[in-house]
Amino acid sequence: MAQPIAFGYAGPCASPFEGRLCGDNNDRGKGGLEIPVIDLSMLVSGGPDEKSRMIRDLRMACQEWGFFMLINHGVPESLMSAMEAATREFFDLPEDEKRKYAGKGVVDTVRYGTSFASGTEGGHMFFWRDFVKALVRPQFHSPSKPQGFSNVLAEYCEKMHVMGKVLLEGISESLGLDTEHINKMMDIESSQQLWAANRYPPCPDPESVMGIPAHTDYGLLTFLTQHGTDGLEIFHQDKWVEVHPIKGAILVNTCDHIEIITNGKYKSVLHRAKVNTEKTRISIVSSIGPSPDTFVRPIEELLEEGKEEAKYMGMKYREYFDLMYDPKLFGKSCLEYVKTITT
Ligand code: SIN
Ligand code: FE2
Repeated sequence: MAQPIAFGYAGPCASPFEGRLCGDNNDRGKGGLEIPVIDLSMLVSGGPDEKSRMIRDLRMACQEWGFFMLINHGVPESLMSAMEAATREFFDLPEDEKRKYAGKGVVDTVRYGTSFASGTEGGHMFFWRDFVKALVRPQFHSPSKPQGFSNVLAEYCEKMHVMGKVLLEGISESLGLDTEHINKMMDIESSQQLWAANRYPPCPDPESVMGIPAHTDYGLLTFLTQHGTDGLEIFHQDKWVEVHPIKGAILVNTCDHIEIITNGKYKSVLHRAKVNTEKTRISIVSSIGPSPDTFVRPIEELLEEGKEEAKYMGMKYREYFDLMYDPKLFGKSCLEYVKTITT
């Protein structure tokens, strides 16, 4: 998986602008590994030096980790709390109410599932969670209950979309491309954006099950918050690393379609969610992807003027979803499959 690369990340307090959030972060990076911290405000309102430092940090974070904590991201704390409260209320609805959204397909517009009853994710031996997912872009979908949920969801996802666009501008620049390159190529205004939440109840035997087993995410970027109870682990330099986020930070990972368009320069990161014996854990996830009709393939300009071969098969984003369930994968992940077959 992740290969060690030639340079090291300078650490979360390398920039003076990150310092103020480092203070409440003393338990982070257990085992000596520091997950990069990226300050988004430096891209938006920093001077030229701050901006170029941020772009350099972003490139290192994407190359070395594929995973980082985003601070000063522009999503108000009050909105993040409102989203958390609404999510908890959703999970507290009567089971019958939630079951209305029990679906099967990855592209169902709103979908609820649980590992603890038959008929949704029923009796799945590898998961220990309830989840709810909504496709919020290009068309907005939401559970209709609890009351007010859809308003909070719409506002939250709009802010996440704006944040995602800015971050993708930074990622374009970090690759030496025009600022708008990825956003234009991915038709980001019609982006397929997904919102999802997981609830992991306490588990009597957390060593025997996973909340979510190891996987990579489809799409471009995933944004995750975990509301005071840790559990996310990422696979980094051949080890699982626990993530202990700074309060208020949003965790970001680069996903399958970033790996594809960068021809593997930035990787899609394996991650998993662990459970614990004591506390219910909630995680809220939002992801930004290409528009469903975008043909996704390695960016020409990154193939070093024809010297480097495209390592990934091109296809429409919506075709990737069909492929995820195709028996011809023979147990491979979709990403591995598109990597082995090139056009
Ligand atoms: C996910 O990968 O979808 C969620 C991981 C987590 O709950 O930390
Ligand atoms: Fe994930």
